[in-house]
Amino acid sequence: MNDGDPILYRGGLLNPLTPDRWEYHEDGGLLVQDGRIQRAGAFGSFTDIPESRVLELDGVLVPGFVDVHIHWVQHHVRGRFQMDLMEWLREHIWPEEAGFAEAEFARRYAQAFFADTSRAGTTMGMAYSSPHAEALQIAADAAVGDWLLGNSIMERSAPEPLCRASPENVDAIAPLLEALGPSRYVITPRFALNCSAELMKSLGDLARQSGAHVQTHLSESPIEIREVMEAFPEATDYTDIYDRAGLLSPRSVLGHCIHLSERELDCLARRGAWIAHCPSSNEALGSGRMDIESVRRLGIPFALASDVGAGPSHSMLHVMQRFLAQHREAHVPVTVREALYRSTLAGAQCLGRGNEAGDFAPGKRADFVLLPAPERRTSPEDWMEEILAGRQQDLETRPLGTWIRGERKAAA
Ligand code: GUN
Ligand code: ZN
Repeated sequence: MNDGDPILYRGGLLNPLTPDRWEYHEDGGLLVQDGRIQRAGAFGSFTDIPESRVLELDGVLVPGFVDVHIHWVQHHVRGRFQMDLMEWLREHIWPEEAGFAEAEFARRYAQAFFADTSRAGTTMGMAYSSPHAEALQIAADAAVGDWLLGNSIMERSAPEPLCRASPENVDAIAPLLEALGPSRYVITPRFALNCSAELMKSLGDLARQSGAHVQTHLSESPIEIREVMEAFPEATDYTDIYDRAGLLSPRSVLGHCIHLSERELDCLARRGAWIAHCPSSNEALGSGRMDIESVRRLGIPFALASDVGAGPSHSMLHVMQRFLAQHREAHVPVTVREALYRSTLAGAQCLGRGNEAGDFAPGKRADFVLLPAPERRTSPEDWMEEILAGRQQDLETRPLGTWIRGERKAAA
């Protein structure tokens, strides 16, 4: 076949549409040309495509997974430590991130990170880097898939080597923003504790002027909230700190958002800011359960995320498993349809790529994952429940293949 020739992938096809609806074809077809989806539907509807262009697959195709909150610089220690957030950061994570001052160290771990995430079916994401500018560029060069990246801005209340490596003002960010471009560089005040109100205000201005995304953490653990409120006595609450700085908009992605008051939830809803919901991380650090009932009631947009390395696994199948388990344990109804939607289309929308990826709509990038076929005739719901069952390691290697822009990246 020539490069420009279309390929019709034949297999099961599961396409998320909304939190409640998906489209399933037991015998489906996905027509791909030049890295783009041309058409998706029942295999029988592709009567115009010659047999020589058909590639038979044993399994079910779903859109590539999207992880909207992950720390690539914590991947090598993911799940290794479990304790309250602030102790975890100070005792283990910050000292570990200081190592990314070394380019060789960063290169090695960047390669491992993107090999593992693409193997697990993640084709797009938004990641925190350490404060170091060079490590950020190394990750941008090594990326497999469509990754938005930002170096953590930490001017204070952290170990001195990290604060020294951090950009101290918007001028220090400008070259990075220019190198990656505003659709790839993410303005990343790590969390309120690491930044002054003045710095956050200038970052909010930069976000508005540049059109870049903003990522930060909000309301993860009670101890964190207490420390943050001590540092900002003038603020009404944690959310107010970011709101005053102009950091909340539909291009903001806020990790966790667990212990929010009605006023804070309402503020997020009015600003149109996104929540990165990280159930596996919240379980691992004992941070609590995001109030999905209130988030739904107020229509706050959210997508799922692993938050590696607090989250023990980079597998979005693992995140979906923990999402279902955590809310079901609290007797809140959640479905496999929603789990898949929040890990694909919602993620793409969260990252401003809703027209580019996230489902099998014609014209979108051909990013997709092959999952094992059902062993016997079963509904797509029961099949998905089976796909999400098992240990973390099983889930990380469950995908049989990952395609990015129509190119196969990883095979079993
Ligand atoms: N809050 C500030 N930094 C971090 C981090 O690295 N991980 C998590 N889970 N929360 C944070
Ligand atoms: Zn995080």
